[in-house]
Amino acid sequence: MARIVLLEKIHASAAAHLNAEGFSEIVQIPTALKTEDLKAALADADAVGIRSTTHITADALQALPRLKAIGCFCIGTNQVDLNAAAAHGIPVFNAPFSNTRSVAELVIAQSILLLRRIPEKNARTHRGQWDKSAQGAYEVRNKLLGIIGYGNIGAQVGILAESVGMRVCYYDVESKLPLGNAKPVPTLDALLEQADVVTLHVPGGSTTENMMTAERIARMKPTAVLINASRGTVVDIDALNAALREKKLAGAALDVYPVEPRNDKEEFVSPLRGLDNVILTPHIGGSTEEAQENIGREVSDKLARFLKAGTTRWAVNFPEISHVEKQARSRVLHVHRNEPGVIARMNADFAEAGLNIVAQHLQTRGAIGYVITDVEAPISKELLRKLCNEPATIRCELV
Ligand code: NAI
Repeated sequence: MARIVLLEKIHASAAAHLNAEGFSEIVQIPTALKTEDLKAALADADAVGIRSTTHITADALQALPRLKAIGCFCIGTNQVDLNAAAAHGIPVFNAPFSNTRSVAELVIAQSILLLRRIPEKNARTHRGQWDKSAQGAYEVRNKLLGIIGYGNIGAQVGILAESVGMRVCYYDVESKLPLGNAKPVPTLDALLEQADVVTLHVPGGSTTENMMTAERIARMKPTAVLINASRGTVVDIDALNAALREKKLAGAALDVYPVEPRNDKEEFVSPLRGLDNVILTPHIGGSTEEAQENIGREVSDKLARFLKAGTTRWAVNFPEISHVEKQARSRVLHVHRNEPGVIARMNADFAEAGLNIVAQHLQTRGAIGYVITDVEAPISKELLRKLCNEPATIRCELV
């Protein structure tokens, strides 16, 4: 049975799910490990679970021939050398969707608080002032929410917003099917000019860098508010700061920033600090107990499906093969360099051993090919050795 090592206090839902899937050899290490300690801890491991602090380098992978799968119990995967992992035939899994709901709920809460001017009223009350005025405070009911980036999070924000009576429109660079009564708008400017709440849910990177420029912010209604819980680079912070101070915008809520402290010892620096009509949160949009629990379940499920059946759907670095139940007595997982003739040679080996292939699933991605083969009889050690010794083979396993 596979041995699985979980580091960095991964949520208990992971071990519970793996146990339920029949994996009993689970070793828990509460901390992250540096490369040399990691090599020692994973020497006998078939799979490892990490969060964001443990780095899995090409050097570590070279020293871990038994390791078959890596689970990143978080969203990001840049702590793992993904190309080196693929070159060793190791799929890497993560949990890109586990915290969608947490971000969406925060955005709805921020919309309500900002339109009611609660950040200012809260700050004033803390200072001993008693501002009971209704001026500039609005219900969200019937207001227009403009979603920029109608992906996983954006679409869920739209559904929740409708449930509190908001109207919803969205702008996306791709054609997206509307959920509920949401309406696509043809241009970003059209959205900015109409919306009472503008919320950003686009990816980071060069294509969205500073997409909220001074000019675009100026297109928003002076009574509107801006929410960014996507990536800090998406908003020109100086332009937003100027618009807020000049009262060209009613308020803002930010969870992400162009520069964020690397740890809780570093000071958070931003020109927006001290503005009463701005909600600032420390990149916690997706940080809830539920999201951690979901991440534990989602990634451990991907590991379990890979170890039991070779399923690589949603792997971030590897050819993806969806889950298919074993159709025969034996299943062979074969990872190889993506070059002509590999499958023909493999299948000739099966034929020579008198084995009939019941089902075969092949996918390639860049330099890597991956094929799952179900055959109707047991595989001999000799045949397995032959498959492993095929010139293009990277890894060959039975499950
Ligand atoms: P997603 O990939 O499902 O959706 C992104 C959408 O933006 C896609 O529909 C895409 O077509 C669209 N898009 C890309 N470029 C665009 C552009 N220039 N204009 C308009 N639309 C554009 O991503 P998901 O999962 O919904 O995440 C959205 C953002 O939220 C990401 O930046 C992610 O990093 C961030 N995030 C933040 C968290 C937090 O703690 N604050 C937690 C989780 C995600």
